[in-house]
Amino acid sequence: MPTSEEEPQRDGAAGRGSAHAKVILFGEHAVVHGAPALALPIDTLGIDAVARYRSGPLRLVSDIYTGDLADAPDLLDSPRAVVTAAIAAFDLPVDGIEITVTGEVPPARGLGSSAAVAGALARALADLAGRELGDEEYLELVAVGERVAHGAPSGLDAHATAAGAPIIFEAGVARVLPHRTSGYLVVADSGVAGRTRRAVASVATFLERHPVRGAALMAGLGALAQQGALDLVAGRREQVGARMAEAQGMLRELGVSSPELDRIVDAALAAGALGAKLTGGGQGGCAIALVADPEGAAAVAEAMRAAGAVATWIHRIGPSDGRAG
Ligand code: PMV
Repeated sequence: MPTSEEEPQRDGAAGRGSAHAKVILFGEHAVVHGAPALALPIDTLGIDAVARYRSGPLRLVSDIYTGDLADAPDLLDSPRAVVTAAIAAFDLPVDGIEITVTGEVPPARGLGSSAAVAGALARALADLAGRELGDEEYLELVAVGERVAHGAPSGLDAHATAAGAPIIFEAGVARVLPHRTSGYLVVADSGVAGRTRRAVASVATFLERHPVRGAALMAGLGALAQQGALDLVAGRREQVGARMAEAQGMLRELGVSSPELDRIVDAALAAGALGAKLTGGGQGGCAIALVADPEGAAAVAEAMRAAGAVATWIHRIGPSDGRAG
């Protein structure tokens, strides 16, 4: 039976938080070595967290696992670290809270699911504690989870999964870009889990073995992010697409693509995409393709699925918002 003290908590308002997926349009991997990167929010794929007072040990309810957070599998080390840090930061009780996480961001696909889950958890627990969550504190809490999930993350995902507009990210600082390029981004899941940690390590090895070529590729990917940002702001859709194809060539040379991603990217280009590339850590995960109109996007999505993609999402990009039209 609940004690009289627990009753008002149990009936109390829930704390709610959300964050969304992201794609990296340009600059993945190079950003780890100091180059700029350009990311787009994918707000049609979201994560929601609801935290409630409830008697008993700290508990998680999710598709992956439901039970005491202390007994959650290693896979959930990152959200567990965020919850622990947030509870301490907001002076919440270590027990007596249940957190429900729902959402559509597939894990380990380069879409920022770990950062989105961390962001939603941080916001829900801040809300439960009746606290305003400032940007700095938000980013710090997400970074706690990202360090567990990825080792030494650049911080790009933490910013991008909270942003409402494209961002250019360099040296830990994110700037929001005005978005004047409309079109459709097809996001395609290769069906193979992305291996961000391993891919980041293979780039480091490439840079050691081929320092001159490696530096040129880092600079090239960074330049594509800078020029791509100018194109995006100026509404030069074709140029954005051409630069995506160029970036894919460089990422392939670095060894962070995969046969599955290559097939999907090539199929998108053959079906009329303006550009296509892997997105995120690579060696699995997702590919993205830029298309001018919804009919073209549907055809490209179909071609990507025929080439092996296990799921595709069509996301409208443009000046107003990101919802598929
Ligand atoms: O796989 P994702 O979406 O977490 O993206 C990783 C992006 C990298 O540049 C490869 C790593 C990083 O920390 O920025």
